[in-house]
Amino acid sequence: MPLNSPEWCWMDGEWVRYEDATVHLTTHALHYGSSVFEGIRAYEQVGGTATFRLNCHLRRLMDSCRLARIAPLAFTPNEIRQACLEIVERNRHGSCYLRPLVHRGAGSLGLNPESSPVHVSLLSFEWGPYLGAEALEHGVDVTISSWRRAAPDAMASLGKIGGQYVVNSLVSIEAKQNGYHEGILLDQAGFVSEGAGENLFAVYDGGLVTPPISSSILGGITRDTVITLARDLGLEVREERLTRDRLLLADELFMTGTAAELTPVRSIDRVDVGAGRPGPVTRRLQGEFFDLVQGRLPDRHGWLERVPQFEASVV
Ligand SMILES: Cc1ncc(COP(=O)(O)O)c(C=O)c1O
Repeated sequence: MPLNSPEWCWMDGEWVRYEDATVHLTTHALHYGSSVFEGIRAYEQVGGTATFRLNCHLRRLMDSCRLARIAPLAFTPNEIRQACLEIVERNRHGSCYLRPLVHRGAGSLGLNPESSPVHVSLLSFEWGPYLGAEALEHGVDVTISSWRRAAPDAMASLGKIGGQYVVNSLVSIEAKQNGYHEGILLDQAGFVSEGAGENLFAVYDGGLVTPPISSSILGGITRDTVITLARDLGLEVREERLTRDRLLLADELFMTGTAAELTPVRSIDRVDVGAGRPGPVTRRLQGEFFDLVQGRLPDRHGWLERVPQFEASVV
């Protein structure tokens, strides 16, 4: 989907116009993928906009920096947090998506990035349902990708590290070219790992099963949210390895992610999942999720942070 350009971006502590938010050709990250990033949603609610699990995302950004050996950062998580809140108001967003990015900048083009400075920046835009408007309502068609998630000793899958997303992009391209909304990756041992940009949940007899961290998944924040909400509702949730055949026998299947939110899966490789339409457990959790983020349920876990008014943003 096209990026509807906002007015302001934040780069190394400065507010810069969208069209001026550019980088040099010798940027290390352009050549070697030496960047880490986050995707965060903010939701319009009655009386204002609130970010969802902002502190968790910032913690994961710091973890990703640690895994990618990107240091030192000139900004603290709290300073980046302030920028995240301020950009929503500066760009006059209602619901929106925030993209903090930490990257190795212009310097030597040697593989060792030590002489390339570390930059911290932030972009925001308004973004509807990631897999299309119909996806949340009717579910998506997925395929098992021919690409695999890299082995745990070949990749730091818990980090959102730019270079690692080349494979995820290939998964997405392959799925679209073959007429699917999304692709699912198996791990190196042949167990189900995750979608190109989403975690997976299967439903069996009313209980949930999701692949564990050891299946080379990204530790999704929406995954954690859904595990918590499901347990709050008294549903059983197990983190256990899933084989491909077991996935095909699920009563219901859905994907979670900041971008994808909670998207039902209606078929795998053109075989219906369950009845071929979103099932009751998926619907119930989807309802809880959207009621929570859109402010219709009490924020009992303290996940939402209201965007305050910034005087400086009147420009
Ligand atoms: C590979 C991958 N898996 C899972 C997810 C879901 O993670 P989250 O719910 O934190 O957005 C994402 C998105 O960030 C992702 O890129």
